[in-house]
Amino acid sequence: MTRDACDLDFDTAAALLAWQFDLGVTEGIGDAPLNRYELEAVVPKPAAVAAPPVIPAETDPVAEARAMAAAAHDLDALREAVTAFPHCELKRGARSTVFADGRPGAQLMIIGEGPGREEDQAGRPFVGKAGQLLDRMLAAIGLSRDNPDPARAVYITNVMPWRPPHNRDPLPEEAAMMRPFLERHVELAAPDVLVVLGNTSAKTVLGQAGITRLRGTWREGFGLPVLPMCHPAYLLRNPAAKRDAWADLLDLRARLK
Ligand code: URA
Repeated sequence: MTRDACDLDFDTAAALLAWQFDLGVTEGIGDAPLNRYELEAVVPKPAAVAAPPVIPAETDPVAEARAMAAAAHDLDALREAVTAFPHCELKRGARSTVFADGRPGAQLMIIGEGPGREEDQAGRPFVGKAGQLLDRMLAAIGLSRDNPDPARAVYITNVMPWRPPHNRDPLPEEAAMMRPFLERHVELAAPDVLVVLGNTSAKTVLGQAGITRLRGTWREGFGLPVLPMCHPAYLLRNPAAKRDAWADLLDLRARLK
C-alpha cells in the first residue's frame, strides 16, 4: 500500500521516517513512493543468463615441465627453463636456483637431493659439510669437479634446484614435477655413468627407495648404468656406513676405467 506524503501529518511522517532509520534505511532514492510488489508486471525480465566462460583445463605442471625441458637444446637453455619454471612452490622460498656444478661431458654425473642453506646461498650444489665430504670421497678415487680430463671429472646436480624449507626432504610430487628437467639434464650432460645419492634421487631416477638396501648394486635409469650410494649427509651422521661407501667408490672407479 502506498500513501501520498501529503496525506501525513508531521508527527506521523516523522514517526515513519524514524522507523525507516531503525530499519537501516540510509538514503532516499526517489521523491515518489514505489510499490515494488507491483513492479514485476512492468519491469522486463532480464535476458537469459549467458553461459559461463569456458575456463581452460588446469595446467598440468609435469606436462609443462616436459615441454619446457624438451625445448631446451643445450645446458644454458635448460638452466633458463628451470629458472623460469613457475609451478614449484619451493622456488618462492629459495634465494637461488641451484642448477649444477662441475664439468659437463664428464664420464660421471652425480645426482643429489636438493640444496641446503649453504648451497642456496652459494648457488652451487654440494658446497656445505656434506659437499666437502663428497669432494674428499671423489678425490680418494682420483676424481674432481673441474678436472679437464672427462674421465677424471665429475658433473653434479640435484633432483630439486630449490632449497626445501628447514631442509626437509623434497615431497614426491615436487620431485615428480622436476623429473623431466632432470632427465633432460642427463641427456644434455651426456655422462656414461650416474651415481644417485640418497633416497630422493634413487626414487626419482630408479623409481625405488630404500637406499641402504639399494646401495652398491648397479641399476639402470635414464638409459644409463646407475650406482645408488648413501648420501654424504647420512655418512656424516653414521660414520660406520663409510666402510660400505668406500666399497662403492672402488666399484665406481673400476667401472669408470
Ligand atoms: N645435499 C644435496 O643432496 N645436495 C646438495 O646440493 C647439498 C646437500
